[in-house]
Amino acid sequence: MPHPRPSSPRRRVPPLPLAVWFFSALTVSAQPIGSHRVQSLAPYVPSPQNVVEEMLIASGLKPGETLYDLGSGDGRIVVTAVQKFKAKAVGVEISERLVRLANDNIRNAGVAERAKIVTGHLLEVDLSDADVVTLYLLTTSNEQLKPNLEKYLKPGARVVSHDFQIPGWKPATVTRVVAHNREHTIYVYRMPAR
Ligand SMILES: C[S@@+](CC[C@H](N)C(=O)[O-])C[C@H]1O[C@@H](n2cnc3c(N)ncnc32)[C@H](O)[C@@H]1O
Repeated sequence: MPHPRPSSPRRRVPPLPLAVWFFSALTVSAQPIGSHRVQSLAPYVPSPQNVVEEMLIASGLKPGETLYDLGSGDGRIVVTAVQKFKAKAVGVEISERLVRLANDNIRNAGVAERAKIVTGHLLEVDLSDADVVTLYLLTTSNEQLKPNLEKYLKPGARVVSHDFQIPGWKPATVTRVVAHNREHTIYVYRMPAR
């Protein structure tokens, strides 16, 4: 006779940002860049600022190193990398509206000498001078990006992914951070010697 299960607390409804993420992930589409259309690999959902800072701490980003944020949104990772970690930073973004917003944020933060945003497709970027690459995409997008990471990144470079793993890679560290009422996961991967 099976034991009756103890009554369990009611499951919490997912907090709003997670639900927004889920539904908007279903609607990613193609975006125009100049005269051609490029596949959108993730909807725009900014990383909370405390998650950004934990991502950069977890990456071990050092002064003078170069960071790329692939899908850079409003530029908050780029700005924080320069302002707080004294790095150089490049954002790559498909949305011209977000490129304009990020450029305003870079100017307002006074970090324009060491930060730039490129309008473009994140699968078409030469990452050979990157020490750190940050991602907040989707697992399927990380899968698409993986061959480029393996092609371009130098040994010792770190890839930091917010919430979505890179399929088939083993993270060096996994850190959990609470923001906006939910737990965020930060995966750090380190490129091995060739
Ligand atoms: C979840 S947001 C992350 C924004 C920022 N990295 C952060 O963590 O706050 C994903 C971003 O990727 C951009 N994006 C989606 N597909 C892209 C593509 N093919 N090339 C460049 N950017 C892309 C979106 O416009 C969006 O700004």
